[in-house]
Amino acid sequence: MEKFKKGAVLITGTTSGVGLNTLKPLIEFGWDIIAVNRSSKRAIDEANKIFKNNEIESINFIEIDLSDLNSVRDGAKEIATRFGNVLKVLICNAAVYKPRLKRPERSSQGFENSMAVNHFGHFLLINLLLESILNSDEKIILNGEISKFIPRITILGTVTANYLELGGKIPIPAPANLGDLSGFEHGFLSPISMANGKKFKPGKAYKDSKLCNMITAQELSKRFTPDKLISNSLYPGCVAKTKLFRNTPWIFRVLFPLFQKFITGGYVSERLAGRRVALVATNEEYARTGVHWSWGNRQKLGKKVFSQKLSQRIIDPYTSSRVWKLTKKLVGLI
Ligand SMILES: NC(=O)c1ccc[n+]([C@@H]2O[C@H](COP(=O)([O-])OP(=O)(O)OC[C@H]3O[C@@H](n4cnc5c(N)ncnc54)[C@H](OP(=O)(O)O)[C@@H]3O)[C@@H](O)[C@H]2O)c1
Repeated sequence: MEKFKKGAVLITGTTSGVGLNTLKPLIEFGWDIIAVNRSSKRAIDEANKIFKNNEIESINFIEIDLSDLNSVRDGAKEIATRFGNVLKVLICNAAVYKPRLKRPERSSQGFENSMAVNHFGHFLLINLLLESILNSDEKIILNGEISKFIPRITILGTVTANYLELGGKIPIPAPANLGDLSGFEHGFLSPISMANGKKFKPGKAYKDSKLCNMITAQELSKRFTPDKLISNSLYPGCVAKTKLFRNTPWIFRVLFPLFQKFITGGYVSERLAGRRVALVATNEEYARTGVHWSWGNRQKLGKKVFSQKLSQRIIDPYTSSRVWKLTKKLVGLI
């Protein structure tokens, strides 16, 4: 029994919202956690507010700023060294959404920042930690039981990145669409700010970055057989009160949760969303590679999870392998 160790889940962005609310269920399921944030101090302060006793001791805080690829490299090195043998799950959760920007913000390497944080940072982190999770101990301990656990990567997707769903067709400012990928082809540096190389639209930049997240989950499922790696994504529901919407107009922040609660019925609490993420990332029921899990946009009590059909923009093999190769080049992996 001694030679087995507790399994560990890495999750990005735990200072608020969905990420913060994923911590408790993960600990309840028996996991150690590697919480990756750009400020460990703020992450610890927030975690201390929700954990009363010594549960927080199951969380290791590592500082990575996903908008800086050098920070991702340093953090990944530390994680691989300290936790390589027990790291079984990566949850890519952190994100920025700044729909009111007039001009693009730039990451440390000069990329448009929402693509840099949401896609490039996570893509590099995944690739740098892939070897660790694939070679981690086959069996781990969860709540005192020895478990055989196939490594898993879970990525937060969204309805607005899936053109097959109503939310994915919203024309304001435009649906997610990577176009001819000329922004990727030409290096994504100023003056380029969009995947398709066209004019900067901040809301679309977010949707495009989430589309890339969902493509990454699909591409991983093609590259690894399900006995080696399970790669999935999810739409946790409309978690309309998280800080993700902090950069929207105040009137939107007031009306959006009410609209989702009483008109569409799509509203989900941060707590429920966090539980959904923890389940999709670690539960046997969700161990199907290439699946995008959803509970739909009408939340009813006891509503069952299902495998959401995805648009060609996400599953097209030619596009996804090009996005993979071009991203590898942009983040310096080739
Ligand atoms: N809310 C929704 O309705 C909804 C719906 C579908 C999908 N999602 C997805 O759910 C995920 C979580 O969103 P949320 O609603 O919980 O948003 P949130 O409360 O704003 O949380 C975002 C997290 O990302 C972190 N982050 C931002 N920039 C970072 C950087 N450069 N480096 C490291 N971490 C960074 C934030 O940390 P700081 O405190 O340092 O900024 C925070 O911890 C996102 O992937 C989002 O796309 C959300």
